[in-house]
Amino acid sequence: MKQDMIVILDLGSTENTVLARRIRELGVYSEIHPHDITMDQLNGMENVKGIILNGGKNRVVDGVPVDVDPAVYSWGGPVLSIDHPASKCQKRLDTLPGETELRQFVFEVCKAEANWNMKNFIEDQIEAVRKQVGDKKVLLALSGGVDSSVVAALLIKAVGQQLVCVHVNHGLMRKNESESVVEVFKNQLHANLIYVDAVDRFLGKLEGVADPEQKRKIIGSEFIRVFEEEARKLEGIDFLGQGTIYPDIIESGTKTAKMVKSHHNVGGLPEDLKFELVEPLKQLFKDEVRACGVELGLPPHMVYRQPFPGPGLGVRCLGAITRDRLEAVRESDAILREEFEKAGLDKKVWQYFTVVPDFKSVGVKDNARCLDYMVIIRAINTIDAMSATIERVDWDVLERITERILAEVGNVCRVCYDMSPKPPATIEFE
Ligand code: XMP
Repeated sequence: MKQDMIVILDLGSTENTVLARRIRELGVYSEIHPHDITMDQLNGMENVKGIILNGGKNRVVDGVPVDVDPAVYSWGGPVLSIDHPASKCQKRLDTLPGETELRQFVFEVCKAEANWNMKNFIEDQIEAVRKQVGDKKVLLALSGGVDSSVVAALLIKAVGQQLVCVHVNHGLMRKNESESVVEVFKNQLHANLIYVDAVDRFLGKLEGVADPEQKRKIIGSEFIRVFEEEARKLEGIDFLGQGTIYPDIIESGTKTAKMVKSHHNVGGLPEDLKFELVEPLKQLFKDEVRACGVELGLPPHMVYRQPFPGPGLGVRCLGAITRDRLEAVRESDAILREEFEKAGLDKKVWQYFTVVPDFKSVGVKDNARCLDYMVIIRAINTIDAMSATIERVDWDVLERITERILAEVGNVCRVCYDMSPKPPATIEFE
């Protein structure tokens, strides 16, 4: 282990992540663990320089106040308690320490070294993965999203050909996205990559299905089925790689905090296909995952990719999906992204995309009446995706995008800009 570490034990604080981030910003690695961690588990961690018992408003679970294993108080190194009235610690604070106080604890009391950086993190994770996996094989569903791409790049470095990546092209990816996954991982990083063309299979299952939730369910369950079929063809796989990151764990609920939404990266695989998980990014925040991807040499378009929903363009081709409208979504989205990049908006706007509704409107082409589709552009800014405001895109940029969509995308005669904030509109249309 190259990095010193401060361990935060979650005793019901709502600010564990704030504290972990503040310590990492001082250049010292910090991990958050549940309050009931055993002394053996703590002793199994290398380079722990100090422990913080982080109490707070969730410190009572099911009517019982939580505390740590009494042995933790006498583990031999510095222990600091924050907002934890039942603490048997000497050094106690009522609120999160200020900058000076935190520095003093981390550097003077714990004598930690500021050696947290991506290079060291990657080296540590490579070592840990090699130790966990040995000479066994790891399977990974590689969607091309930021988290699965970064975990793939890290696992390739750690175990090379023992990693088997499966990329399922469900036909709902953006333009050139599947091709880019193959180019980067197979051709450049020489990954052991299985590419599954499941386009007809997905579009067949989705035919005539207009209800958004039903579409989501079909896409999700079909994905698991395809992945499961591929896993069954392979022999001797013991591990499943996962791009789980820290916010996924928080949102799935901790021992002291309730679930925000279920984290279903793992879900769905049948009992006899249960693998041991390899999750090297699970202590990282999203921006740190991106920094890790950059350090691993992934291309910027992959690392700085805007959020993209799991069901992909399936929820942007509104109503029952048809191939012609799906192509219109894909092509118009590609034009929008190209023009946003040219205008420098790709670095400013949080999420931007196009949708195509399932009705036609009247237009006029070559002096004759026509009935064609409509493309709607949406560009929003948000911090947490719970609420959003629209981006006031420059009129000239919008006009250029509109001209290009009308000229280059088939079956379209109208382009609109969505002015709706969230709430009441959601970010996606479905
Ligand atoms: P909404 O539409 O709920 O979107 O305002 C909030 C954020 O979540 C993304 N989103 C999804 N992501 N699976 C996902 O992985 C989904 O089914 C899904 N639906 C919406 C959306 O793109 C936005 O960033």
